[in-house]
Amino acid sequence: MVKIAVMVSGGGTNLQALIDAETRGELINGELSAVISSDPDAYALERAKCAFIPGYVLRRRDFDSTESYGEALAEMLEQLDIGLVVLAGFMTVLSPAFCRRFEGRILNIHPSLIPSFCGPGFYGLHVHEAALAKGVKVTGATVHFVSEIVDGGAIVLQKAVGVQPGDTPETLQRRVMEQAEWQLLPRAVSLFCEGRLKLEGETVRILDRPGE
Ligand code: GRF
Repeated sequence: MVKIAVMVSGGGTNLQALIDAETRGELINGELSAVISSDPDAYALERAKCAFIPGYVLRRRDFDSTESYGEALAEMLEQLDIGLVVLAGFMTVLSPAFCRRFEGRILNIHPSLIPSFCGPGFYGLHVHEAALAKGVKVTGATVHFVSEIVDGGAIVLQKAVGVQPGDTPETLQRRVMEQAEWQLLPRAVSLFCEGRLKLEGETVRILDRPGE
C-alpha cells in the first residue's frame, strides 16, 4: 500500500473526491493516511475528521523561510512513511529543496490545460478570470508532477471543459471542478499507487500494467 498525504489550504472538494474514490475502492493500492493543512481553519480538516483520516496543521507563518517550512514538512512526511504527496488546493509555495527531495512523488491538480494559464500568480479564481479574459472556448484541468518550476512538472492527465456564454469565473470554476478535477485527481492518484506512471524525462507514460 502506498501511504498518501493530501496537502490542503481551503475547502477541500478535491480531498473529498479522493475520500469518495477510496470508499468506492477506486484508489487501488493507495491509502489516504494524512491530511496536512497550511490553515488551521480549512474546512478540508473537517472532511478529514469525518473520514477518520489524521489531520495535521503546518502554518507557513510559524517558520521564517520557505526552506525551513519545507524541512519541517519533509520530516513530518518521512515520519509518517508517506509514499505520495498530493497537493489539492495547497496555497503555500514549496521550496526547491523540498521538491527535489520528493521528486516524482508529488502530484498537483491545476485548474487549466497546462501550459495555458499557469505559473506564478495563476491560482484559484485568477486562473478562470484569465481564461475568460482571453476568450478561450475550451479550458480544463491538469494533474502533473511537481518540479521546482511552478506548474512546470510532467503532465499526468488532462481533461477539457467547454466555456459557456455568460460564464463568470465562479461558474467556470465549478464546471471545471465537477467535470474535470474531481475525476482526474483520484484517477491519477490510483495510477501512481498502482505503479503505472512512468516518468520519462519531461513526460509521463501511462503503463497498461505496472513495471512494463
Ligand atoms: C482547485 O481549483 C484546484 O485545482 C486548485 O485549488 C482549488 C482547490 O479547491 N489547485 P478545493 O480546496 O479542493 O475545493
